[in-house]
Amino acid sequence: MTADLFDDTPSPYVTPEVIAPGAVLLRGFAREQAQALLQAVEQLIAAAPLRHLVVPGGHSMSVAMSNCGTLGWVSDRSGYRYSASDPLSGQPWPAMPACFAELALRAAAEAGFNGFKPNACLINRYQPGARLSLHQDRDEGELSAPIVSVSLGLPAVFLFGGTRRSDNPARYRLLHGDVAVWGGPSRLAYHGVAPLAEGDHPRLGRQRINLTFRRAV
Ligand code: SIN
Ligand code: FE2
Repeated sequence: MTADLFDDTPSPYVTPEVIAPGAVLLRGFAREQAQALLQAVEQLIAAAPLRHLVVPGGHSMSVAMSNCGTLGWVSDRSGYRYSASDPLSGQPWPAMPACFAELALRAAAEAGFNGFKPNACLINRYQPGARLSLHQDRDEGELSAPIVSVSLGLPAVFLFGGTRRSDNPARYRLLHGDVAVWGGPSRLAYHGVAPLAEGDHPRLGRQRINLTFRRAV
């Protein structure tokens, strides 16, 4: 086996990789914070458990989700929306940890979006086979702020297209510690995640965790 072909060790962060106008990959940007982020995730999902949301069409999503912050993204038979409380408990979502907000602010600035103050963080948990079909993040009401998306655990193939559904998406492999940021002309770009491949991550086992930071109103 050729070691480097199969090496999933993230490289140290160097510089933004522009994938579209207003969209960058910051490879390895969250690598040093990953352990702290994952410890916080464990506490958050103990308070607001991961769950498979139902979409308006009636099926359950393969990705399990939770939220932290003032607002959380939820879906049910009646549609998608942001909610100040967790529909499972009726309680407010857990507060966004300082280390989350700080990382999102720094990543956005690195991508050219200064002063990003997310108030919503979607926590996505992928197990092998889970996928997220192409979609736009358009429920936020506030489209001047970018999206900051942090990958942890198993590698994923991230699909990133244009602002029309028919635009053929490019594929990017995202590893533990990688961050994607999209805003400005790419804010409404279609994106998704291909079915997660089997694997065993040293810290997360058969899982990928994604943290998606947004400014919702
Ligand atoms: C999302 O679009 O909410 C998540 C993207 C990802 O898991 O990388
Ligand atoms: Fe999204």
